[in-house]
Amino acid sequence: MPDEGNKPVRGFALEGVTVRFGRVEALKDLNLSVEPGEQAAVIGASGAGKSTLFNVLTRNVPLAAGRVTVGGRDLFAMPARELKAVRRQVGLVHQAYNLIPQLSVGMNAALGEIGSMSNLRLIKTLLLGPDAGLTARVSGALDRLGLGEQIRTRTADVSGGQQQRAAVARLLVQSPGLVLADEPFAAVDPVTTDRVIETLAELNREGATLLINLHDVEVARRFPRVVALREGGVVFDGPPEQLTEERLGEIYAGETPGSVERGPEDPEVSGGVTPRKQDPARRLEGRDGLPAR
Ligand SMILES: Nc1ncnc2c1ncn2[C@@H]1O[C@H](COP(=O)(O)OP(=O)(O)OP(=O)(O)O)[C@@H](O)[C@H]1O
Ligand SMILES: [Mg+2]
Repeated sequence: MPDEGNKPVRGFALEGVTVRFGRVEALKDLNLSVEPGEQAAVIGASGAGKSTLFNVLTRNVPLAAGRVTVGGRDLFAMPARELKAVRRQVGLVHQAYNLIPQLSVGMNAALGEIGSMSNLRLIKTLLLGPDAGLTARVSGALDRLGLGEQIRTRTADVSGGQQQRAAVARLLVQSPGLVLADEPFAAVDPVTTDRVIETLAELNREGATLLINLHDVEVARRFPRVVALREGGVVFDGPPEQLTEERLGEIYAGETPGSVERGPEDPEVSGGVTPRKQDPARRLEGRDGLPAR
């Protein structure tokens, strides 16, 4: 039985949410609600607003309009202390994994627990390394993802797929109530994809709500609910069986889902959606899976 008392932040709702970056409307009057324990895949062309949706759910971008509730509480009205507690309950896997390349794979996984540590325990962990309990949780998580051998390897020295699994191991250690995975399968092999999906599904069975941004429609079809964004709004929300070729045509309008080489340098693939700003750091992140320094 999932321990709901331990994971208060599970469901969420967005009502009439609009997010603007200058003149770009990344989200437009968006409505979406996800119940505790649900699993949903989010699809849509590049620039449709998928990552922005996740940034809204962690209050990392301001709202131009609308309301967001997480675990029944108004996310944008809550005081800083409560926001911190909410963020501890939200597990993120980013497009660029957000691992610290100089640290070992094991230490990156251990960071999953840092948000819930006292200052004293944090300092001890950083100086002396994780204690026995945390070490056991880290090695258990890495073993589940086939990364046991890499526990002491510098994260910069492992492959992109292994870095991605390290990011999922960090999630297992964190054990969040709401998992937001932003394209966790970009550029990895099918075996890694299956393993990551299976691990996310396990977290879901343990009680976590799962929202996952995907570029590959066939992978999205493995989830019970698919939400499609186009130009910042929800254009499809339902079971994968209802996602017909015609609907996909509307969602991607000109883009071939999952098969095009995406990028800001190629406006052809953005299907009429405003292309994202050129940002060299962001492009580097996308390429090697590590934050640019
Ligand atoms: N920090 C930002 N500053 C300026 N514009 C932004 C910022 N973040 C997003 N945008 C713009 O908002 C729109 C939606 O971007 P978003 O990153 O949410 O798209 P996405 O669906 O995640 O695309 P992708 O599949 O390429 O990751 C795009 O036009 C993008 O250029
Ligand atoms: Mg994105």
